[in-house]
Amino acid sequence: MASEESESDVSAPTEDGSKWLIEETERFESEKRQLESDVSRMKRENAHLKGELARLRAPPQVIGTVRDILDDGRVSIKSSSGPDFVVHISEGIDKDNLEVGDRVALHRQTLAVLEKLPSAKDPLVMGAEIDNKPIETYKDIGGLTEELDELRSTIELPMLYPERFSKIGIEPPKGVLLIGAPGTGKTLMAKAVANATKATFIRLIGSELVQKYIGEGARLVRELFQLAQEKAPSIIFIDELDAVGAKRMDVGTTGDREVQRTLMQLLGELDGFTPRGEVAIMGASNRPDILDEALLRPGRFDRIIKIPLPEEKARLKIIKIHTVKMAIAKGVNYKKMAAETDGLSGADLRAVCVEAGMGAIKNKRTKVSYKDFTLALEKIKNRLNETDISEPEGGLYY
Ligand SMILES: Nc1ncnc2c1ncn2[C@@H]1O[C@H](COP(=O)(O)OP(=O)(O)O)[C@@H](O)[C@H]1O
Ligand SMILES: [Mg+2]
Repeated sequence: MASEESESDVSAPTEDGSKWLIEETERFESEKRQLESDVSRMKRENAHLKGELARLRAPPQVIGTVRDILDDGRVSIKSSSGPDFVVHISEGIDKDNLEVGDRVALHRQTLAVLEKLPSAKDPLVMGAEIDNKPIETYKDIGGLTEELDELRSTIELPMLYPERFSKIGIEPPKGVLLIGAPGTGKTLMAKAVANATKATFIRLIGSELVQKYIGEGARLVRELFQLAQEKAPSIIFIDELDAVGAKRMDVGTTGDREVQRTLMQLLGELDGFTPRGEVAIMGASNRPDILDEALLRPGRFDRIIKIPLPEEKARLKIIKIHTVKMAIAKGVNYKKMAAETDGLSGADLRAVCVEAGMGAIKNKRTKVSYKDFTLALEKIKNRLNETDISEPEGGLYY
């Protein structure tokens, strides 16, 4: 009896017990699946970290430039730090894809070419203004007839008809420098010429060259001249040349030295340049008195065009140009305005027109009256007088 009892205890598991076991097994199995997936995730992570570590541990690569590609498959390179070397190319690189002048990454010890790098000039050069076709035209320029004629005969003519120069046997001027007070239309003229010639227009601003591209000014100049040749016909326009072309006085600070280097590069590029019309060089400056004579020597900026403040007749034309799209009330006396704006530049006259328009808008009128113009003129003249006081005679640079 007793044995029967104990037997039943062991051999006959209750319904509950077996259910418990089944559940427990399922739980373990799901846990196992979970752990397996964890393991594989960690394996992936491990591989990724190993790769990352290898990348971080990789020795730095040297940058070089391809000088020559030899027949036996090796290349001659110039490393950024010194002499030229003949080296091998890594398997992964398509040799036919490599060109003289390419930037490449080199193995630190063997200097083997490991990788072709994107051309260095792109991002920097793109920082300069490259304009395939400026929208300004000759019609947008008031006055300056003679100056424009001269500019056209030195830039446009050799560009459109280079053969005329070679037939006669003279070289067209290399560089044309526009000199005149701020706002007299120098930039405007340069853009209009570029428009007329359909040349690629590369505009470099002197002050940016030395401020924005610290340490890169000289390189930028070099690469822009290269780019100009690649994209010929083209016009290189160096605006605000005074910023790089100031007379070499004390070369004390690093900033000055940087300006020096940029200037020397610019002079070098100008010297190494045979014009023949396909690349024209223009410069503009507000400060002829401080330009380095070296820039003005023959073979560099050898043609100088002075851009004067507009005379009365020119002022009338400029006012008309800048009011042509404005809604003007009847009886606005342009002639009187031209007579009363002696000493104002084209840019000042434009400012007067814009200010007059603002006055009309403020007073909720739909047309600009003569009164708006006279008030605007007063305002602009006051503004000019204010800046005169803060600026010593001869400008800001002394
Ligand atoms: N002769 C001009 N005829 C018409 N507009 C002019 C003239 N000169 C200057 N302007 C106006 O003033 C603006 C600034 O002139 P800009 O060519 O930049 O002067 P600069 O380069 O000589 O300092 C021009 O975009 C134009 O609107
Ligand atoms: Mg300008």
